Amino acid sequence: AENTMWGGRYTTGPAEIMEKINASIDFDKRMYAQDIGGSKAHCRMLMATGIITQADGEKILSGLDQILGEIEAGQFTFKRALEDIHMNVEARLTEIIGPAAGRLHTARSRNDQVALDVRLWVRDAVDRADVQLADLQSALVERAEEYADAVMPGFTHLQTAQPVTFGHHMMAYVEMFARDRSRLQDARRRMNESPLGAAALAGTSFPIDRHMTAQDLGFDRPMANSLDAVADRDFALDYMAAAAIAAMHLSRLAEEIVIWCSAQFRFVRLSDAFSTGSSIMPQKRNPDAAELVRGKSGRVIGALNTLLIVMKGLPMTYGKDMQEDKEPIFMVRDTLDLCISAMTGMVRDLTANVQSMREATLPGFATATDLADWLVQTLDIPFRDAHHITGRIVKLAEDQGVDISELSLERMQEAEPRITGAVFERLGIDNSVRSRVSYGGTAPDQVRAQAKRWREVLG
Ligand code: ARG
Repeated sequence: AENTMWGGRYTTGPAEIMEKINASIDFDKRMYAQDIGGSKAHCRMLMATGIITQADGEKILSGLDQILGEIEAGQFTFKRALEDIHMNVEARLTEIIGPAAGRLHTARSRNDQVALDVRLWVRDAVDRADVQLADLQSALVERAEEYADAVMPGFTHLQTAQPVTFGHHMMAYVEMFARDRSRLQDARRRMNESPLGAAALAGTSFPIDRHMTAQDLGFDRPMANSLDAVADRDFALDYMAAAAIAAMHLSRLAEEIVIWCSAQFRFVRLSDAFSTGSSIMPQKRNPDAAELVRGKSGRVIGALNTLLIVMKGLPMTYGKDMQEDKEPIFMVRDTLDLCISAMTGMVRDLTANVQSMREATLPGFATATDLADWLVQTLDIPFRDAHHITGRIVKLAEDQGVDISELSLERMQEAEPRITGAVFERLGIDNSVRSRVSYGGTAPDQVRAQAKRWREVLG
């Protein structure tokens, strides 16, 4: 059969396998709203500049609205023979309004059309991720306020380091997700330029108004170079890179939840709604959602790599390779969406086991730094010497099988005779966290102040 899309010089249609490798409709139909919205903006501009008549323009606009309705009602038949979303919409427009449909593509190419559709789609994905991350931050702030003075061991190297609070730990993630949101905002600002009107690659001889379509579609301005406009996908990579970093943060939190849920830690309990049982071991409460957030982060990171690799060897300008941008972009959007939602649900429902966290803080001499600081502050001993004396006291406690706070004053004085009983006030874990009042420190009042600030920011 003759090819209906590029007609003229072809005598046969594509081989079946050609159609299969070439068609993108199975996935790019997700961009129908962006495609129709972009076409309407283009049509309004063609009317305003007198490139097409009002009468043809009105027909095109109403036909596009009808198609939007059909797709949303699930009544639209997508055809692989028509390759992609752009041609599917245009072919249907021809069925509905007749030859006037052929005027929509004046001064436009699928190259600037697809660049526009993807940009609009990614911009929506950025906005969605921002809203979702804000919601996750709110859930973390709620837990931070609830557990502002719940003591837990702070770790480095997964070795007990110093006591912190669970609230402080939650707030650390609030900051990470804030930077993820900021990276998404940066990406949005950079991507918010319109490629429409670049046409195939070189611009057009028609008197189009690119500023008009840019403004109509909510862009800050048209892109300044037509070759760049159709050739680059860095805006999508910006989004995916920000998403990959967010996925990495989600994965770290997920990993912590997995550890904290274990019988050996018992720091947190996920709600029934976010736990799964075992078909053989009745005692099990598995953190599957957390494990899957951790596991699925690989898809996001992989998709970023996929598109980088697709793009890196392409000469200017458009190459069909670039059709491969969509599936990784969609993968990132879907995975991030799911992972943020699942994480928000887990955090919102999570209860911390205050008693277990406190007990876990005791072994490991978590207040050794407090002792060294006390020696500096009370006896004016240089920190390096205080560190050494504290090391000897830790050794004594270890030999005796007790915490340093449980050593007798006499034992301590073997290491440093000037130590007085006042030191014990400093060695309790609550006193330890309460003393960390430096800006950004773990003292409960600091944590509450940060949580309050964030609650106001998040509204
Ligand atoms: N489906 C194509 C894509 O996603 C649309 C652009 C086609 N342009 C072209 N010159 N073949 O990239």
